[in-house]
Amino acid sequence: MATIRLGDIAPNFTAKSTEGNINFHEWLGDSWGILFSHPADYTPVCTTELGTVAKYKPEFDKRNVKVVALSVDGLESHKGWVNDINETQNTTVNFPIIADEDKKVSELYDMIHPNANDKLTVRSVFVIGDDKKVKLIITYPASTGRNFDELLRVIDSLQLTAYHKVATPANWKNGEDVVISPAITNEQIPSMFPKGHKEIKPYLRMTPQPNLD
Ligand code: BEZ
Repeated sequence: MATIRLGDIAPNFTAKSTEGNINFHEWLGDSWGILFSHPADYTPVCTTELGTVAKYKPEFDKRNVKVVALSVDGLESHKGWVNDINETQNTTVNFPIIADEDKKVSELYDMIHPNANDKLTVRSVFVIGDDKKVKLIITYPASTGRNFDELLRVIDSLQLTAYHKVATPANWKNGEDVVISPAITNEQIPSMFPKGHKEIKPYLRMTPQPNLD
């Protein structure tokens, strides 16, 4: 297992899932993607997480992001548990869950952290760009359910900064002013950022978010 770092091509794999066999790169196609692991089926926090992801699907779709979950439980277990998620979270699971019983994908993506638990995956999140490169890696312990609003917020930042020469400041939310990339000279600013800018310090220049009307 090689360490996966930001900017690496997300390793490809084939796996069984609740929506049939998946070749990861083919399944991603031209979309962005989120691959996220959870420790185990039929557990309380995971049940709320997968229900939340199902409800957020329209938000992921809007951003051209496909979502796939993974645990080391088997396909029959996943299918039975999906009924419980649907029932208890008032939703319909609408994304695939990988059955990684042989731990092939978990090991490829270093999702098992033996000093936390040597058999189960931790709560890993990999955001993958439409160029198949890894854009974000976050790891949570089993005891902490993820904040999917934060995941949407960070995807907004990743997509904005992938296509415009800006960065997003602390606690930034979609619609707020952004930072002009330090690589841009003051001479370049008027043509690149016609909405104007404010120079707080020579290295801290703010501009309205460029991809909004
Ligand atoms: C849960 O999803 O609730 C959970 C799973 C594994 C360990 C602890 C909590």
